[in-house]
Amino acid sequence: MSLLRPAAVSVILRPMSTTDRLEKRAFSSTDPLRVGLIGSGLMGFEHIRNLALQDDLHFAALADPNPPSRKLGRKTAKHRIAEYEDASEMLDQESLDAVIIASPNFTHAAILDEVLDRPLHVLVEKPLCTTLEDCDRVVAACVDRPAITWVGMEYRYMPPVARLVAEIRGGFAGNLRMLAIREHRFPFLKKVDDWNRFNRNTGGTLVEKCCHFFDLMNLIVDREPLRVFASGAQDVNHLDETYGGETPDILDNAYVMVEYEGGVRALLDLCMFAEASRNEQEICATGDRGKIECFIPESLVVLGERKGRAMEEIPILVNKDALEAGFHHGATYYQQRAFADAIREGRSADVDVQAGRKAVAIGVAAHQSIETGNPVELSSLA
Ligand SMILES: NC(=O)c1ccc[n+]([C@@H]2O[C@H](COP(=O)([O-])OP(=O)(O)OC[C@H]3O[C@@H](n4cnc5c(N)ncnc54)[C@H](O)[C@@H]3O)[C@@H](O)[C@H]2O)c1
Repeated sequence: MSLLRPAAVSVILRPMSTTDRLEKRAFSSTDPLRVGLIGSGLMGFEHIRNLALQDDLHFAALADPNPPSRKLGRKTAKHRIAEYEDASEMLDQESLDAVIIASPNFTHAAILDEVLDRPLHVLVEKPLCTTLEDCDRVVAACVDRPAITWVGMEYRYMPPVARLVAEIRGGFAGNLRMLAIREHRFPFLKKVDDWNRFNRNTGGTLVEKCCHFFDLMNLIVDREPLRVFASGAQDVNHLDETYGGETPDILDNAYVMVEYEGGVRALLDLCMFAEASRNEQEICATGDRGKIECFIPESLVVLGERKGRAMEEIPILVNKDALEAGFHHGATYYQQRAFADAIREGRSADVDVQAGRKAVAIGVAAHQSIETGNPVELSSLA
């Protein structure tokens, strides 16, 4: 099956320093890689649909304790798969090459503890873990691990975002000084057992959802983040809901400012009661030569040069099958592709556990800044 692959996606999104090889686990066979899925809820469903578009990835088994989720996985697969209630049982019984972890955030740490001991390539959905302590344990477990551990950061793989990153790397904006990311969207969806209604399960909105955007900031700015200032609250959403007598405590709007080495500034503007928006994500990167904007789902990149005030609008094509197979502008397809290619080629992860940890750290710092009203030095969280 040939799907359109924007060159920028494969070239730009891996860390520039990634040259190390994973000789021991480079995959020499031409057989499809056997993939197991841990958690077949909403994101698992998206992974299954995208796995069906990949010639060289075979969805072989799933583990999920929830019968309706297993049924969803089974029906979505459209071929015979092995099913387990328990991930350990699947790992013990199936001969897998890779696993995708798409279970709730609070389960990632314990599942990773078990998975990382095995010679399996791993794609774990964001956030890596809900606390920095757990992230640190995972990072330590991955030192010299001879297989890929990749953190699912789909937004990097949205073709318009990949084009924006390519333009930054190509120098269009000159010396990048400011980066603004706006996400204005609908409230959090319902999840299995309503796990996403409480910070203790998610890590908090700025970890749970916004680690995506902090990862993008880190990728685009390509310097060390130093400090975080934030203001946010739960003002509108879920206030009339109760679960076991408890009202959800998840924040629904925030501004988060991140200062990077060299004085580069980045801002996240998050609003989750803004369904009536023309775009869900808008990114604007401005340097001393020009400005690059990116709009999703409009799928548009706009290049603006200061000299002569010239502007060019570039519609970014996304393959229709990839678009239809998920809710992330084709990103899950492109990320799975990159994951499979990295395994085949013996490369390390585009988004490794250190990058996953760094994105969580900015979210943790932002929550701390909101609680205290003070800026938070990221070095204070180390
Ligand atoms: N990258 C993205 O854009 C994106 C989008 C949505 C969700 N996610 C992430 O994907 C993960 C899953 O989110 P979701 O939206 O699919 O939630 P969900 O509630 O729809 O699905 C989670 C599934 O995991 C199952 N589960 C719970 N404990 C488990 C365990 N110990 N082992 C195996 N399965 C278990 C649940 O029964 C459920 O079926 C979360 O980490 C979430 O943050 C990422």
